[in-house]
Amino acid sequence: MQQEKGILDKEKLPRHVAIIMDGNGRWAKKRNMPRTFGHKAGVEALREIIKMSDEIGIEYLTIYAFSTENWKRSAEEVGALMGLLLEYFTKELEELHRKNVRIRILGDIDGMPKGTERQQLALHRAIDRTKENTGLTLNIALNYGGQQEILRAAKSIALKAVNGEADPTQLTKEAFEQELFTHDEPPVDFLIRTSGEFRLSNFLLWQCAYAEFYITDVLWPDFNRDTYRDALLAYAGRDRRFGGA
Ligand code: IPE
Ligand code: IPE
Ligand code: MG
Repeated sequence: MQQEKGILDKEKLPRHVAIIMDGNGRWAKKRNMPRTFGHKAGVEALREIIKMSDEIGIEYLTIYAFSTENWKRSAEEVGALMGLLLEYFTKELEELHRKNVRIRILGDIDGMPKGTERQQLALHRAIDRTKENTGLTLNIALNYGGQQEILRAAKSIALKAVNGEADPTQLTKEAFEQELFTHDEPPVDFLIRTSGEFRLSNFLLWQCAYAEFYITDVLWPDFNRDTYRDALLAYAGRDRRFGGA
């Protein structure tokens, strides 16, 4: 931890890091193990990355845990992922709360399919338990799709307009952002994707407008403090221009 603090210049750290944790399946396959084995290992990697983010003073960490498209996977894999989710929240909640972490869920919790009632309850409980916390904000994107999020915001605004509560001609970017799951949070500064895939896969389409991208071949279960530090050092060397000269 001391070492990381020494190397990482606080001034050059991103405020908001987003991670597409990808490659669990391939990691397991390389070991001739079922995909679920990779997901289990992925949870361990996540635990370390949350810990380190908190220690070095990242303000917002958003992780992609399950997309609206991931329901297409086999019932067995989805079931295993939902099992891990429940286990994670049961085991980790108090520890995260002690660390002053504020948990938010990006995505449609109540729109999760039948059979996930226990998960839905655990998610609501985690949000509620940690909502007053002032440390790291941990956004967990779950049953999340960037397009769905934008559509949901548009619907909400359209409804307000129809009800005479808002004037659509006066709609600002800031007002629109209030309708997103990430309302009140800064945009993503740094987007990390593991496993070498060069795509967004419907993640944070709005919030990544000016994010710096970092893609590594490392598979998610192998992502650790060292590889995270490498990524953050790469970020520190980026020249962010936001359209300026
Ligand atoms: C990411 O790993 C975890 C989730 C999508 C939940 P994958 O399961 O996508 O692993 P690969 O991409 O098949 O290797
Ligand atoms: C994105 O990974 C979703 C998560 C990491 C939760 P996927 O593995 O689902 O993305 P694609 O299918 O390769 O685009
Ligand atoms: Mg994948």
